[in-house]
Amino acid sequence: MSYLVGIDISTTGNKALLVSANPSDAGRVVGVAATENPISTPRPLWSEQDPADWWTGIQAAIRQVLSGTGARGEEVLAVGLTGQMHGLVLLDREGEVLRPSILWNDQRTGPQCAWITEKVGLENLLAWTGSPALTGFTAPKVLWVREHEPDIYARVAQILLPKDYIRYKLTGVYATDMAGASGMTLLNLEKRTWSTEMLAALDIPAEWLPPTHEGPEVTGTISAEAARATGLKAGTPVVGGGGDQAAGAVGVGAVRPGVVGLVLGTSGVVFAPTPAPLFDPQGRLQAHCHAVPGRWHFMGVMLSAAGSLRWYRDTVAPGVSYDDLLAPAAEVPVGSEGLLFLPYLTGERAPYPDPNAKGAFIGLTVRHGLPHMTRAVLEGVAFGLRDSMELIQATGLGGLEQVRISGGGARSALWRQILADVLDCELVTVNTTEGASYGAALLAGVGVGIWPDVDTACEATIQVVVRVTPEPAQVAGYRAFYPLYRGLYSTLKPTFDELTALVS
Ligand code: XUL
Repeated sequence: MSYLVGIDISTTGNKALLVSANPSDAGRVVGVAATENPISTPRPLWSEQDPADWWTGIQAAIRQVLSGTGARGEEVLAVGLTGQMHGLVLLDREGEVLRPSILWNDQRTGPQCAWITEKVGLENLLAWTGSPALTGFTAPKVLWVREHEPDIYARVAQILLPKDYIRYKLTGVYATDMAGASGMTLLNLEKRTWSTEMLAALDIPAEWLPPTHEGPEVTGTISAEAARATGLKAGTPVVGGGGDQAAGAVGVGAVRPGVVGLVLGTSGVVFAPTPAPLFDPQGRLQAHCHAVPGRWHFMGVMLSAAGSLRWYRDTVAPGVSYDDLLAPAAEVPVGSEGLLFLPYLTGERAPYPDPNAKGAFIGLTVRHGLPHMTRAVLEGVAFGLRDSMELIQATGLGGLEQVRISGGGARSALWRQILADVLDCELVTVNTTEGASYGAALLAGVGVGIWPDVDTACEATIQVVVRVTPEPAQVAGYRAFYPLYRGLYSTLKPTFDELTALVS
């Protein structure tokens, strides 16, 4: 028997996925083990984790998946890494962690982002890095530490992303992948190398950054010490892998232009592969390197997608199952009889990078009941995702063939149909449901020659399960409601700002 291992260091937990590498059934999921990660919010807007927790957790998960399946370490041919993007891990000269990791959803760096945009200029920032400086990104956090914790800053010798800290613990090597690196505001998107311009402008030493690698490229091998800790075999290759969104896209086969990934998790992500380093000149979209060599992608990130539905359920119908909550909403007509929902419950990233944006029900009348409100939440999230889709299409990327949906929200047939109708595009689910860790395992397989390239790996392993086609009458209905939804943000923006000022 031979296997591949995909490792995912996410905010919620650490996952080790075991996938077959046998010629007869390469890509079949053999086993999975996961551990949870604590998260701390020492101050409002802050979000931190202790890298030691990731390491303890993933050692246990790897041991567990091996013992649970009876697989032996020497049967694992390669390991791929994925994980939460943008987080900052700072190490000293000895490789010791200097402070808790500041995570992707930490919002403390507003002033540093404004300073970067002012210093570099939005036009240069986008041309060099592809994305605006967003509060969750890595470089603004480095500047925050420089300003607020100078004693720690003075000891910094290495900057890593969360999963690359685990790579270091597994291999003893400092390295990162292109997809992850391009979420740091420090990578030149076009050249796929660290941006000398950005490093100079922000006065960050180049030697603090690890070498960059493509997703399937081997970055190092399991060390003797890590072998003892995990049960993997010393010398096993570890490939670059990818940030969670890029690896997740590989895991559902969103690897070439035209096939778009849509993740309906707590956040909602529209992920569109691009053949070249395109970017939105107004900076409303993120543009990053794909985990596929020589490809890039756009990404529109909505902060509260299935998170909106969870908030709504927990608030108005606590304890009710999603099935029971959603069933009556299927009887409500398109547009929820004139009720609109804005999903900006935790501020927004795309298409409005605005921490002050807020949620709203607009159009309530006495005719509306819970089923209308439920449907309005599903529709509001779908409209918000269409916002990102429209921005992506406006870049001239070209034809949209298919949307591949994944994440918890994809389990609802009603939500899938609403999305297909709002986006006016075929929507499919696929057979692979392990997300980013599966993509990381495929990248590992390409790295050791199980498949010749990522496209082939995806074609060999990923099949469409359910196809949802848009229904013309409903598409027409949503076409009428969408512009009203679209107009709400700019109308309400002054109110959002005043409300923020009043309660802060
Ligand atoms: C992407 C992003 C999230 C994090 C956490 O830009 O912020 O996907 O990687 O999952």
